Amino acid sequence: MKKRILSGMRPTGKLHLGHLAGALENWNKLQDEYVCFFMVADLHALMSEYEHPQTLKENIIDNVADWLACGICPEKSVIFIQSQVKEHLELFYLLSLITPLGLLERCPTYKEQLREIKGRDLSTYGFLGYPVLQAADILLYKAEAVPVGEDQLPHVELTRQIARKFNHLYKTELFPEPKALLTPAKRLLGLDGRKMSKSYGNTIALSDNPETVLKKVKDMFTDPLRIKISDAGHPHKCNVFSYYSLFFPELKDGVSQACESASVGCTQCKKTLAEKLSQLLEPIQKKREELLKDKNLIPQILDQGRLKAGMAAQKTISEVKHLLKI
Ligand code: TRP
Ligand code: SF4
Repeated sequence: MKKRILSGMRPTGKLHLGHLAGALENWNKLQDEYVCFFMVADLHALMSEYEHPQTLKENIIDNVADWLACGICPEKSVIFIQSQVKEHLELFYLLSLITPLGLLERCPTYKEQLREIKGRDLSTYGFLGYPVLQAADILLYKAEAVPVGEDQLPHVELTRQIARKFNHLYKTELFPEPKALLTPAKRLLGLDGRKMSKSYGNTIALSDNPETVLKKVKDMFTDPLRIKISDAGHPHKCNVFSYYSLFFPELKDGVSQACESASVGCTQCKKTLAEKLSQLLEPIQKKREELLKDKNLIPQILDQGRLKAGMAAQKTISEVKHLLKI
C-alpha cells in the first residue's frame, strides 16, 4: 500500500519561482510514489491575515491554478481547502489539550515571526497555536511524511512530539510519527539577495510576462567586484548565477566559465537568464490560462478534494473521539 503524505501552502499571494523550486517540483514528483494530500492552508493564512481576510479568497483559485499548471494532478492527488474540512479544527482543539505551552513558546518559527512581522498584531493565542493546527493537518491524514522546506522543520518535529504524547497517553498507535521530506532544492534567494518573500517584493511570479521577468532580472545584483566588463567575475558570489544553477544546471558550467574569463558581460548574462526563465514559465502560463477559462473547473476539483479529504478525516476523528471517550 502506498504511504500517505500531506503538505500545505498558505494562500497569501501570487506564487513565485521560490514556490516552484521549493515545493511544487517536489510535490509533482511525489505524486506517483505516495497518496498525496495537497492543502490550501487558508486557516493558517488567516492567523496572520485576519485583519484583511478578503485577499485570501482571491488567492485560493489563483494558487490552485498554478499548482495544476505545474503538474499537480487531481486524479492522482487530493487537492483541497483546509477550512472546508472541519475536522482540522476539531483535531486542533483536541491536540491543543496535550501540547505543552513551553514547546510552542520555544518554537523558533514563532519567535522569528514575532520579531520580523511588523504591522500585524501576532501576539494572539491563535498564533501561538499555529504549529498545533499544522500537527492536526498532518495527523488527521496519518501522513507518514511531510514534504517541506527547511523553515518548516520545527513544525514537523513538534508534530512528532504531539503524536508520541498522544499515542503514549491513550495507549494507542493511532498516529504515525511523520518524517520531513526535505525539498532537495536549496532555498532560492530573492532578486535583491534577501530571503525571497512576497512581502519584500523581490520575487518573480509564475505569472509574470517576459517583459516583467526581463525588467526584474536586469535589476538583480551581480558580483560586486565585477565593475568593468573586462573584470573577471566570481559566479559563486552572484545571485544571477545561483538562478542558473537552480533552474538551468545544464548551462551552469558554460556561464561560470564565461563569467570567470570575462568573455560575457553581466547585461548579456542577465538577458539570457531572463529569456530562459520566460521559456520555463511559458508552458505553465499557457496551461494556467486554459484552466482558468472554465470558471467551474477549479471549484469542482476543490469540491472533489473536500469530499475525499473529508472521508479520511472523519475516520481519524472518530477514532480519536473513541479514545477520548467523547
Ligand atoms: N506552515 C506551512 C507554511 O507556512 C503551511 C502548512 C500548513 C503546512 N499546514 C501544513 C505544511 C501541513 C506542511 C504540512 O509553509
Ligand atoms: Fe553574475 Fe553573470 Fe555577471 Fe557573472 S556574468 S557576475 S554570473 S551576472
